[in-house]
Amino acid sequence: MPDSSQFVIIANRLPVDRVEQPDGSLAWRRSPGGLVTALDPVMRANDGVWIGWPGGTETDLEPFEDDGLKLVPVPLSPEEIEEFYEGMSNGTLWPIYHDVIAKPEFHREWWDSYVTVNRRFADKAVEIAEEGATVWVHDYQLQLVPQMLRELRPDLRIGFYLHIPFPPAELFAQLPWRRQILEGLLGADLVGFQMAGGAANFVRLVRQRVGHKTHRDFVYLPDGRTVRASAFPISIDAEGFETLARQESVAARSTEIRAALGNPAKVFLGIDRLDYTKGIVARLRAFSELIEDGEVNVEDAVFVQVATPSRERVEQYRILRDEIDRLVGHVNGDLGRIGRPAIHYLHSSYPREEMAALYRTADIMVVTPFRDGMNLVAKEYVACRYDDGGALVLSEFAGAANELRQAWLVNPYDINGTKAALLDACRADAKDTTRRMKAMRRTVLRHDVAAWATSFIEALSEISPHHKSVHPT
Ligand code: F6P
Repeated sequence: MPDSSQFVIIANRLPVDRVEQPDGSLAWRRSPGGLVTALDPVMRANDGVWIGWPGGTETDLEPFEDDGLKLVPVPLSPEEIEEFYEGMSNGTLWPIYHDVIAKPEFHREWWDSYVTVNRRFADKAVEIAEEGATVWVHDYQLQLVPQMLRELRPDLRIGFYLHIPFPPAELFAQLPWRRQILEGLLGADLVGFQMAGGAANFVRLVRQRVGHKTHRDFVYLPDGRTVRASAFPISIDAEGFETLARQESVAARSTEIRAALGNPAKVFLGIDRLDYTKGIVARLRAFSELIEDGEVNVEDAVFVQVATPSRERVEQYRILRDEIDRLVGHVNGDLGRIGRPAIHYLHSSYPREEMAALYRTADIMVVTPFRDGMNLVAKEYVACRYDDGGALVLSEFAGAANELRQAWLVNPYDINGTKAALLDACRADAKDTTRRMKAMRRTVLRHDVAAWATSFIEALSEISPHHKSVHPT
């Protein structure tokens, strides 16, 4: 066990993946997410510890250090992966929090497993956090942890951040365990959301369902504690992405990709986790209709869709994968020509360099989720376009639409509207696309993930000033 710490991160996953070395031994590789990039300096400045599930079912993993980061693995059994992770987290909460795009399932055994696993994470933090420490809990898998920590360790300063949308009261109310979840979150001093709407939904539910007094962003608990619930829109390591995109090797790879696609005049691009919230089928349909309508020609336009494998044992994800496979087969069979498929579909995940090369190649980036907390792909695309080129078609229902107002904004449920936006973006002149991209780049470069982490940590210090301070960097 590492020494006790004054700064503890708790997230469902550790920021590393298990990889097999050429000699067959297992090692850790840093996962490239923005969260770890943002928190790395805060962790180092405060001798922080990160508690999380390492993926898989290994049970005998000891705490370890990876490139100076102290990591504490929390094991999950095969049954817990099924009930806590695939079940309650991704079969119940995920669809409820994303507009019930898929039907949520409610199972009492899944809930029991959720409680057990949340308790395990909380207990681990209790062991590690020193007197008066700051503990920052992340995401929908761990919503009971703040209250569990509060009960065992009232000395802690506790923050919680939800990376996905927080649903309207009418949808949240379906949850048989709605009150427990609200009370779980109220264990925190500060509850952060992507959007002001999510924070308002939470405060309204607390008033209605738990009966606490509230005023604007604040909840007043009977024991005298105040909880703040506010929006802190997350971002990316914008400078890191731009630097990557500027590399000669990335430029060369981009040229290579375009040539491999047959040097079309226009490359449309989608990059998503394979998830039903992302609107992949609707967008590919919109593109294929443009070809059928004669507005777009496969000789000079192509759609590249990257879908990263995700939650593959959850039924809704399997159904979606089959649906996309069928659709791409149909579209290419009906509309493609020799050497000119209408859609290049890649069911795979790629390193950041390849993503940056794809972003550089894309003339029209298509990000059309039905619901998304933020959508970092949209921001990554903008960060990579240091040439001020490219066009972004963005769903109104992605949190990013709040900031990237100069994108071509669409309602992804409106196929004709999406088609019109794709065409507009495709036919826009360079003056228009440059003006839009310049404005979006100013926003993304100014509000990067480091600014996000700093603003959350500072707000947390303000709401519980009697605790020790954490150095933002
Ligand atoms: O967007 C929420 C989130 O949990 C992210 O934190 C994560 O990168 C993504 O979904 C994938 O989740 P999972 O851990 O289920 O693969």
